[in-house]
Amino acid sequence: MNLNKVFENNEAWIKEKLDNDKNYFEDLGKGQNPELLFIGCSDSRVTAEELMGLGPGDVFVHRNIANMVISIDLNAMSVVDYAVDFLKVNHVVVCGHYGCGGVKAAMQSADLGILNPWLRNIRDVYRIHKNELNNIDDEEKKYDRLVQLNVKEQCVNLIKTAAVQKAIRSRGLQVHGWVFDVHTGKLIDLKIDFVKYLQDIMEIYHLD
Ligand code: CO
Repeated sequence: MNLNKVFENNEAWIKEKLDNDKNYFEDLGKGQNPELLFIGCSDSRVTAEELMGLGPGDVFVHRNIANMVISIDLNAMSVVDYAVDFLKVNHVVVCGHYGCGGVKAAMQSADLGILNPWLRNIRDVYRIHKNELNNIDDEEKKYDRLVQLNVKEQCVNLIKTAAVQKAIRSRGLQVHGWVFDVHTGKLIDLKIDFVKYLQDIMEIYHLD
């Protein structure tokens, strides 16, 4: 890829935006008020805004390998805190995707060096759901199901944070688990019952 093309694309994009609305960038420069925090995978195919038909200013985005929400990850925790407490987003989404290399790596018994501690968190998801996963014979189906279960567990991890617990109670923040199907482009809502999960884990994780 010739990177000059990127700058040409940028010029064309500016022109397109200004043709539509001559104040577009003036307004964009005034600040942000996103409705949504999107936590997705770093995979180049999972383009947060584009797959949702949204644009600049609409979504606060955090991406890492396999869309993980890990309590000692200062980066992810800072993003959640800032988006929920300061920007006051109304929705937090964990979006996994089929064909996730991070999830696939965690299904294999191999030493992956620096990735080991990161992928360990996905192996933990596998362990929690071992009975269900081991009953799936088809490897592809098992892999897809682990992608879904990982999204679910990362939603539970979100609910374990003080910022999310407080915002659910005080202003009805909603937590969602989605999967992007890279084979069809479809965005699938796993319909995570976050209120039920919140109740289930409160005995141990109540912070508010
Ligand atoms: Co991925």
